Amino acid sequence: MLERLPEGETRLESILISAAALEARVTELAQAIARDHDSPDPLHLVAVLKGAWIFLADLARALRRVGGPAVHYHFVRATTYGTGMKGAQERSRQVRLEGLPSAVRGSTVVLVEDILDQGFTLAGIRKALLDDAGARAVRLCVLLDKHLDAPTPEVARLRQSLIPDYVGFSVPDRWVAGYGLDAAEEFRDLPYIAVVREECFR
Ligand code: IMP
Ligand code: MG
Repeated sequence: MLERLPEGETRLESILISAAALEARVTELAQAIARDHDSPDPLHLVAVLKGAWIFLADLARALRRVGGPAVHYHFVRATTYGTGMKGAQERSRQVRLEGLPSAVRGSTVVLVEDILDQGFTLAGIRKALLDDAGARAVRLCVLLDKHLDAPTPEVARLRQSLIPDYVGFSVPDRWVAGYGLDAAEEFRDLPYIAVVREECFR
């Protein structure tokens, strides 16, 4: 099926990743995660709300299809950008966290996130899972890894400390939406990933 942007939607520029490409890649990620889980214990997946919602739902079913391990699901809520978008020359950003899971104490967890951008969100959650929730280790699984054009030195350093274990796709330094990701809370239900015209949301 040929995919199109919604009729008359001028705030989206183009489709970047099709639904079919997302589906195929999510299956590959599930295979890799299943292969790496070398323990008789359940796998603990911690997904970040809201953006990772659709990715996790597909990843969960792909894990079952590929014969993966038993999985316990956890959700943490992070607010990094609210209804805004990132600005130029950011050095730090407050990440608000809610719902840190207590059941991961002593376990290796896979942290499932929609997109790695400047890294503030994943760094904050990883630290909280290790220091506060008592996880033994945290592996990072991101659907999208944004290639930053001009990060500040602080952001470049943070990104170097956050090499994900599993990456779906690399994406350019643009705001993207769909498949769970939003622009000011819109577009989460698009079945593909689209590039947003950022000027429409400033
Ligand atoms: P970071 O903390 O700068 O890495 O940003 C990661 C968080 O910001 C993700 O959890 C997303 O919710 C959100 N985010 C960053 N870039 C985008 C984007 O291009 N589209 C939608 N959400 C994004
Ligand atoms: Mg998010």
